[in-house]
Amino acid sequence: MKYNEIFEKIAAELKDYDQIGQVATYIPALAKANPNKFGMYLVTREGHSYFHGDTDETFSIQSISKVLSLVYAFKLVGTDLWKRVGVEPSGSPFNSLVQLEYEQGIPRNPLINAGAIVICDILMSELKNPYQDFIKFLRSLAGNPNIDYCKTTAESEKECGFKNSAHINLMKSYGNIENDAEEVLDFYFHLCSIEMSCKDLAQTFMFLASGGKNPVNNKRIITAQETKRINSIMLLCGFYDEAGEFAFRVGLPGKSGVGGGIVAIYPDQYSIAVWSPGLNTKGNSSKGIKALELFTTITQSNVF
Ligand code: DON
Repeated sequence: MKYNEIFEKIAAELKDYDQIGQVATYIPALAKANPNKFGMYLVTREGHSYFHGDTDETFSIQSISKVLSLVYAFKLVGTDLWKRVGVEPSGSPFNSLVQLEYEQGIPRNPLINAGAIVICDILMSELKNPYQDFIKFLRSLAGNPNIDYCKTTAESEKECGFKNSAHINLMKSYGNIENDAEEVLDFYFHLCSIEMSCKDLAQTFMFLASGGKNPVNNKRIITAQETKRINSIMLLCGFYDEAGEFAFRVGLPGKSGVGGGIVAIYPDQYSIAVWSPGLNTKGNSSKGIKALELFTTITQSNVF
């Protein structure tokens, strides 16, 4: 497949699409992003890479980290995880509080903010050095020792993280948070602040397209059954109240972040990352979704 030519075709078709979305402004540090950035990076199961545009530049991965923290927590505590967080799509915005009260502090799924905060709490209980251990895990998945947290973004988010404070306090009142709320939130903000490039993301997520094994070194990260669980959660919950639309248009499990990144996987075939900071009203990259829709249409690759 001539992936580079396909990428060029998509970029040409979407050249004026940057203007459609709005860069996230609710976190001041993210408001500085350049809306004209665009990159697409694909890694195949055989280890070939294809790319177009700004694929080496790092950006804030934001909620994409929620999948990786979920994987790490799942590895540590196994199926006990599902006592603390559900696996149903929320159909609500990523930061919505409404279901959390009537579902008694158990978040609908691990990819909405409430769920990801519970996952952070689990990691803090299980790990001696959660910050170091988690970043080490990511660096080994990506094969890039330079991946790191961004203190400025984490602090910027903390300064305006009132809704996330409401989430954690509500969950603590129901007994679903074990650690100090401030410390857990700090860890959550740091996970959101991690910076990676499209290249890093595509490489990192490749194990989810390979039955749970890193295809570069054949190291098993999670079992095939655990991989099925993570991918199904991405498909149903990865885009919040736009998960149906993403499945409808793109047809792959994936995850977005308000930094404008999206990563998606085609089981047994490839992992693909896109970056375009302009977001739609649901907080997902407008051009990123359109680019992936064109890609899976042209290549006729989707899970359905
Ligand atoms: O909690 C927040 O508001 C963000 N740091 C993460 C949000 C995010 O990326 C949602 N995804 N589209």
